[in-house]
Amino acid sequence: MIEIKNLHCQYGDHKVLKGINTTIKKGDKIAIIGPSGSGKSTFLKSLNYLVEPTMGTFESENLKVDFESISPSEIQKIRMKSAMVFQQHELFLNKTVFENILLPMTVVQNIPMDKAMKEAHEILEKVGLVDKKDKYPLMLSGGEQQRVGIGRALAVHAPLLLLDEPTSSLDPELVGGLLSLIQSLNEQEERTMILVSHSLNFVKEIANRIIFLYEGEILLEGSRDYIFSGASNPILEKFLYNLKLAN
Ligand SMILES: Nc1ncnc2c1ncn2[C@@H]1O[C@H](COP(=O)(O)OP(=O)(O)O)[C@@H](O)[C@H]1O
Ligand SMILES: [Mg+2]
Repeated sequence: MIEIKNLHCQYGDHKVLKGINTTIKKGDKIAIIGPSGSGKSTFLKSLNYLVEPTMGTFESENLKVDFESISPSEIQKIRMKSAMVFQQHELFLNKTVFENILLPMTVVQNIPMDKAMKEAHEILEKVGLVDKKDKYPLMLSGGEQQRVGIGRALAVHAPLLLLDEPTSSLDPELVGGLLSLIQSLNEQEERTMILVSHSLNFVKEIANRIIFLYEGEILLEGSRDYIFSGASNPILEKFLYNLKLAN
């Protein structure tokens, strides 16, 4: 379980997150929806300390971090709690698919080479890339690169998987494949994930809880049915209306 309290984040003077409070339970599949610029990516990045929150606390099992006084060793610990799949796949372009998945284990986690290689093969199977293992990322399609990104995130062994608009760079016919990949990952083992997506189908199929982020705050959160009903909230209703037009 991860508990986030009063999380604030800003770029220069531009306040983006204005006090986020939420609890992420083991096995949760949380979808974050909200208008462009509402702070969705910033929220995911702050969970992985890829941006530096200015205030707030992060609590998880044996770790309690106050962002105002975070230490280098706490930064390392917080980063190990989650793994992010990026909007643009940030893969090592000069490394093969296999190496992209292997390196988080050998370099970052110091897992012995034979064990890491065995697991990298297992991950390749999970993400359906065994036959592409010796290719370089630029030789792959967007959908395949996305799978490498997910494979690499799995190799980090973090309890929380963060997915930022995983379908946004995919051709429409590839979205179904990514959806079934994520569903099969969920079936294989209990996984906790936070997903940012503008795809209503994706959100409906995966999420058990939805957060509506609006201008840097959680305006509403709840079950799929509650949020997709509009929750009698005119801001959410308008957002959903526009989203349906775009879907
Ligand atoms: N690295 C950055 N430097 C300055 N401003 C940023 C940076 N990243 C995001 N922003 C600004 O912060 C706000 C929230 O951005 P973001 O978290 O990316 O929103 P979302 O993912 O919901 O579209 C936007 O106004 C965006 O322009
Ligand atoms: Mg974003």
